[in-house]
Formats: sequence, structure tokens, C-alpha cells
Amino acid sequence: LENGCLSIVVLGASGDLAKKKTFPALFNLYRQGFLQPSEVYIFGYARTKLSDDGLRDRLRGHLIQGKETSSNHSEAVSKFLQLVKYVSGSYDNEEGFQLLDKEISEHEISKNSREGSSRRLFYLALPPSVYPSVSKMIRNCCMNRSDLGGWTRIVVEKPFGKDLSSAEELSAQLGDLFSEEQIYRIDHYLGKELVQNLLVLRFANRFFLPLWNRDNIDNIQIVFREDFGTEGRGGYFDEYGIIRDIIQNHLLQVLCLVAMEKPGSLKPERIRDEKVKVLQSVLPIADEDVVLGQYEGYTADPTVSDHSNTPTFATVILRIHNERWEGVPFILKAGKALNSRKAEIRVQFKDVPGDIFKCKKQGRNEFVIQLQPPEAMYMKLTVKQPGLEMATIQSELDLSYRQRYQGVSIPEAYERLILDTIRGDQQHFVRRDELKAAWEIFTPLLHRIDDGELKPLPYKPGSRGPVEADDLLARAGYVQTHGY
Ligand code: BG6
Repeated sequence: LENGCLSIVVLGASGDLAKKKTFPALFNLYRQGFLQPSEVYIFGYARTKLSDDGLRDRLRGHLIQGKETSSNHSEAVSKFLQLVKYVSGSYDNEEGFQLLDKEISEHEISKNSREGSSRRLFYLALPPSVYPSVSKMIRNCCMNRSDLGGWTRIVVEKPFGKDLSSAEELSAQLGDLFSEEQIYRIDHYLGKELVQNLLVLRFANRFFLPLWNRDNIDNIQIVFREDFGTEGRGGYFDEYGIIRDIIQNHLLQVLCLVAMEKPGSLKPERIRDEKVKVLQSVLPIADEDVVLGQYEGYTADPTVSDHSNTPTFATVILRIHNERWEGVPFILKAGKALNSRKAEIRVQFKDVPGDIFKCKKQGRNEFVIQLQPPEAMYMKLTVKQPGLEMATIQSELDLSYRQRYQGVSIPEAYERLILDTIRGDQQHFVRRDELKAAWEIFTPLLHRIDDGELKPLPYKPGSRGPVEADDLLARAGYVQTHGY
């Protein structure tokens, strides 16, 4: 990392996201030597009145929880927490932010930072309703003041708006205050190991290059399943629903990386240019390509409206109108309270022409990338059944990360993405035009759901979701394969 004083400000420091994701990620970066105590200070900012120790005590539990509780670990936690300071203030008046700026400046002076060379990172772990006021306060009170190699960057979390117009409004507000190079829109799926592997797989392997197109691929599924409901987050979820929560961002980002053309180079802008082109080639979503569901018991949550029309499950087929993908359905499927927890990409190839083994009924070649948990990828293929008979069976070439990369720890998505923001690498962040194109795809469908024109079908918690979704999958051409 470049040298110079670094102040990381976590706004919304007493909230859930900060405790569960942001601070643990910062701690892991610290442990690996990426945050040097001689340069770094971390400020928590929130409305709650707390002392520095009050925040440290709250964080300690999360940093120790589930980890080895060796004295080494607790000592590292204590040392890390010494770098954390708390500032309390409101999100919509300047007083608190002036105080924050004073604290940051004192830190910079104590580190003998040359004026203007300091780096200030603001992480908004906050509800989007306060983004406009908070970013204005940062702009007015807390910017790095001159241009001697220092910078100010802000990190924002989804939801970025609720539809095209609200997202555009938010983008315009942020855009008036910060340049695109200063804004890091996090989609944590882009920080996952196997999502980051997609470009390598596709463009560094001769196996895939000639096959990755409509001539060979029959259909592609991008699936997210969770085996729990909206526990504790019903209020938020009911306002957004599964399409805004998962599909329009996480799954669509994965789709971009699966479907995009090879970028001219690995420069972040070239990669993001290609992603935008894919999004702009998606056709309007047809009604018959959508199945919505809501699990039974969802509205029992007191924070959810009794007559909620919000889907907790959706299968949506996207069709990309370009030379590579015409006719290949991209089936995006996401659901809460299902029978398993999984996120995977399934690329199903077409039948073998002139099938002399009559193995069609066993299924097709399929390449599966299991994003989590645990990370793995495997290829389903037909082989001769071992033995005297000339019979065929479906088997797998299997790369399971746990076995193959034993002892290698796979970084958390947030850890990687925060490091990228410090390094100034925007490759794994969503650019403004990408965001717009993503909302353009889903806004008409979302408005029809919001207006009650499309209704979710009930499904049992712990099931596969509505059976209609399996019918849709079959109509899209997906063939279930049968392993040995
Ligand atoms: C978040 C959604 O963005 O992603 C949650 O808001 C969801 O509803 C979570 O549970 C899933 O993330 P992961 O990394 O566990 O797949």
C-alpha cells in the first residue's frame, strides 16, 4: 500500500453491517499487515452516545466470536481496537461532522502527515435514506483539503435506490458531491473468490474459449438459495423484496461476468465497459419468463405488512440479444426460506449431435461453479461405466477448494473490497452507468409487482419454492442430469 496517513471512517458504526462485516474485515486486514498502526486510524461514527471503550466493547464480541480464542487472537483484537475511536453525532447537521474532521486532522497531525497527503476513506454502513445528507456533510466538512497525493473516497452499500428514477436521483446527488473515481459502490458478490475467478476461467482456458456461446450452451442458471427467512430484517426486506435484494445486483453482476466479451485489457474501466454492454443487450422481461413466490408465514413478522405482495422468491429469465447469446436463456433464481443454502452458476451444454451411445437420457455436460458454501467447481460429463459392459454414466471432474487448496484461507468478500478501496482499484465496484442499466432491466417488472399486478405464489418454508418455478426451468430447456 502507498504510504501516508490513512483514516478510515465507518459511519453507522453501531449498526449491524458495521459490526458483522465492516469491522471484522478491517480487523482481518490489520492482522495480515495491510493496516499499519503507524499510519492508520479507524473512526466509528454514529448517533448513539458511546465512549471509545463503549464501541470497542461492542466490537470485541464480534471480532472474537467464532474465531480461535487463543491469547494471540485476543491480544491482536485488543491491539486492533486501540486503533478505533468513536465520534458521536447526527447524520444531518454539520456539528458532528466538524468534530469528526477535527479528530481526523488531529490524527493526521500526530502522524506528521504532510498537509494534503492524507487519505480519508468514508464507509457508509447506513440506510440509503441518509446517504444524501451524510455525503453532503462529508463534502462540506471532512474532505482531504489539498491535492498532494492524498484522497477522499466514499464507499456506499446497496440498495442504491428502489427503481430507475430513484437510483438516478441518488446517483445525481452523489455525483454532484464526488467524482466517479471517489465513489465505490459495493456489491459484495464481486468480492467472492469464485466470482473473481470467472474472468480467469473464461479467458485463460482454451477449453472454454470456443465453447462459450449459443452454438454449444443450451441454458445458464445463476442461483441463490437461503435456508432461512427474513428474520430480524423483515421491515427492510418488505420494502425491497428478493429482486432488489439479490437479483438486480448480486446475480446480475455475476451474469455480466459470465456473459461479457473479453475486455481489451484488465483495466477496471475496460472490464466495466464490457459489463455495461451486456446489460444494455438484455431484452425486456416477458411475463411468461417470471415466477414469483412468497413463503408461508412471511407476513407473520410484525414488521411486515399483513397484505404484503413482496416476493421472497423469484425466477426470472433474461435474454441477451447479441451474437454470442441469442436464444440462450439466463435463468436467475433467488429465494429465502428454501431447503438449502447455496449460490451457484450452472452452465448447461447442448446435447451431443449424433449420439451413438444413446446417453442423452442421462443428461448433458454441465459446468457448475459453486460460489459458496463451500467453494467448488465441477464438470458433469459422460464416461464409460467402469466394468465389462459398454455402458455410459454421468460423472464429474471435481475441483473442490477445500481439498485442493487445503490450508489456504479464502478472504472474505468485504476484506478484499475494502482493500481495493484503499488501493484505488474500482474493478470490483459498480459504475454509475452499470447501475443505471441494471435498474433499466428490472424497473418495469418491479413496478408491476409494486402495483399488485403480479402476485407471488405461496410456497412452504424449507421447500424448493413454488413448483411453477421448476416448470419454468424445464420450459427454458434445462435438463436434470443424473449422477452415478
Ligand atoms: C445481502 C442481502 O446483500 O446478501 C441478504 O441483503 C443476503 O438478504 C446476503 O442474505 C447474502 O450474502 P451471502 O454472501 O451470504 O450470499
